[in-house]
Formats: sequence, structure tokens, C-alpha cells
Amino acid sequence: MRTLTVDLADRSYPIKIGAALLSQPDSYTPYIRGRRACVVSNTTVSPLYLSALKNALSDYQVDEVILPDGEPYKNLDTLNQIFTNLLEKQHNRQTTLIALGGGVVGDMTGFAAACYQRGVDFIQVPTTLLAQVDSSVGGKTAVNHPMGKNMIGAFYQPKAVIIDTDVLATLPAREYVAGVAEVIKYGAINDADFFQWLEENSQQLLNRDKEALAYAIECSCRNKADIVSQDEREGGVRALLNFGHTFGHAIEAAGEYKQWLHGEAVAAGMVMAADLSVRLGWLPGEQLDRLRGLIERFGLPVAAPAQFATDQLLELMAVDKKATDGGLRLVLLKAIGSAVVTTDYTRDQLCETLNSVRN
Ligand code: NAD
Ligand code: GLY
Repeated sequence: MRTLTVDLADRSYPIKIGAALLSQPDSYTPYIRGRRACVVSNTTVSPLYLSALKNALSDYQVDEVILPDGEPYKNLDTLNQIFTNLLEKQHNRQTTLIALGGGVVGDMTGFAAACYQRGVDFIQVPTTLLAQVDSSVGGKTAVNHPMGKNMIGAFYQPKAVIIDTDVLATLPAREYVAGVAEVIKYGAINDADFFQWLEENSQQLLNRDKEALAYAIECSCRNKADIVSQDEREGGVRALLNFGHTFGHAIEAAGEYKQWLHGEAVAAGMVMAADLSVRLGWLPGEQLDRLRGLIERFGLPVAAPAQFATDQLLELMAVDKKATDGGLRLVLLKAIGSAVVTTDYTRDQLCETLNSVRN
């Protein structure tokens, strides 16, 4: 087992990474202070893993809330379903929520924990690669509003993140590879050695080789934990984690969130951000080729779909601008392993990228 720490003073917590952690009592017991817990999962993940988790918690009184599966259910109605269950079963402030699922379950459970009786403990047990390397770490919790994704939420840190690498065996290939996009992101923005390791070990990762996976998850979580420890609330360096995301969000939104998975859109978005970095003379063309080559090796998209007009993508990217006040800030690369947040580019240069990085 590998253990990392998200270093946030009295809210610090461990990330435990290893095989078979889900079914071991020791994974949870140090982080449950009362006698009761409630597992929140969904209709896809619970038949696979809920009984193993509950067996590990046989010394506790454990309830469960099983939510419908999917991003369309990540909303206030579903959140209320969690609250109603907790109230009906008379959970008090000593209870601990346990999120068993991907990023949707994790984000909702975390937000429920932040709100229920003004805040109860929660543990993340992420079961997708994306959730294991990204969403379960760092305390961003939220639900969607009809007017925007993740618009209602809180920064609220878990007590522990328990990453069982075995559960990835049942993850559909498309979901698995979408998670790899976020793994590549850490190499691109912050860790050139890890990027090179990914280039050399892409086949092992495609084969879901357990040792390679555990190492990739550890490096990803270490990078994320370091950044979150420096800037929990995204006042500065945490914004680097949005590399590829402003372009990616525009692609996701243009496809009404049905066409591409988040990781797929981020993959194309990273190539677009790197392309703009080359146009600005900041990134050598050879490094763009390396990034595109690595993304392609996993079968992820490296360009935006031709069907979306440049103007449409520009307009959708500007939603991020409204969110930040001022110019549209993009995360661009100075080198593989070194990123900056900047408004230092022209609209024409951005349009050239949007026009040229197309299928
Ligand atoms: P998801 O939670 O929808 O999971 C993808 C699919 O895989 C679902 O159908 C799920 O039921 C299924 N699944 C999960 N684990 C499985 C397993 N082990 N075996 C078989 N099937 C399994 O999607 P996701 O990609 O994990 O997360 C996306 C969500 O994460 C979005 O809502 C996004 O906004 C959020 N997110 C949050 C953060 C953050 O920092 N909080 C970061 C990135 C993404
Ligand atoms: N996924 C981006 C962040 O956690 O900040």
C-alpha cells in the first residue's frame, strides 16, 4: 500500500492506494468516529462493490443510499434524496458518509456531507480512474444547476481517500481511457519525468497492468495533493489543474454533454492549449508532437469535432471568462512539465488554434 497526504493543517488527510483496500476494515476504521455510517453509491457500482465494503464495516451500523447512475442525476433533487434517507434513519452529526462510486457519486456525497446538519465526516472510495486521480482528491464538491455544471457546491475535504486499484477491472474501456487524460495532464503541467514515464509505459497502462496503474495513480495523486496543499481554494496555482479544460468544456457543452466524456474533451483541449502555446512561441513544436502522440496512443481525441463552428466554441469558452471576471484566462505550456495561467494571447491566435485543431 502507498500512502500520500493532502497537507491542509488540521484538515489534512491520507490518500491510500493499493489492491483490495475496499474490503479491509483498517481502510476505514481510523476515520469513522461514531458507530454509524451511510454508504452512498449508485445502481451500477453497488451490485459490484457494496457488499464487500459493508462486510468490512461489520462492527458499525451501516445504511445505504443507492442513487440513479449518471450525470443528469447530479442535481439538488438527488441531493435531497440523500438528506431524506439520512433523516429518516436518524443519522446525527457523528455519522460518516462514504462515497462509493465515480466522480458523480463523490461530488454529490461530499456536498451532502458539507451540508447535512452543517457538516459531517465523509470518506471517498473512488471507483473510476478519473475519480481516483482527480475528483476524490482536493475537496471540490458540487451538484449541477440547469444553468451550469457544478454551480452549487462547497470546498469540503474528506477524512480519507481509499483507492482500491482492483475496482478498475470492471470499468468500461471508454471510461478508463477518459481517466487517462487527467493522468497525462499532471505530466504535462507539473511533472516532466512522469510524462516521460507515461510515454514509456503506455502499453502497460492500456493493459491495466496493476503495478503500472498503482504508480500512475500515485504520481497523479501526489501532483494533485501538492497543488491543493498550496492553494486549496484555487486562488492561484490550483488553476493549472484546468489545463485543457476551458477548450474541453466548450467541446462538452457544444455536444450538450452527450457526445464526449469529460476526459475525452480534456484530451482534445490539451492539444489545443499546447497548439496555442506553440503559436505564441512558448512551446517547441516537438513537445506538442509528444503530447499529441501520447494522447493518440490511448485512442483519445486530439482535435475538436469539425461540426462545431469556431464562433460557437469561442462563445462557450467565454462562459469561463464570465466566471473569473476579466480576460479569458487559459492554462498554456512553457514546456512539458511547466504550465502558466495567462491572458497573454490575441483573439486571432486563439481563433487560429480553434480553426486548425479540427478533425
Ligand atoms: P461517473 O461517476 O459518471 O462514472 C462513470 C461511469 O462508470 C458511471 O456509469 C459509473 O456508474 C460507472 N462506474 C464507476 N465505477 C465503476 C466500476 N469500478 N466498474 C464499472 N462501472 C463503474 O464519471 P466520472 O468520470 O468518474 O466522474 C465525472 C464527474 O466528476 C463529473 O460530474 C465531474 O464534474 C466530476 N469531477 C469532479 C472533480 C472534482 O475535483 N471534484 C474533478 C473532475 C471531475
Ligand atoms: N479538477 C480540478 C481541481 O480539482 O481543481
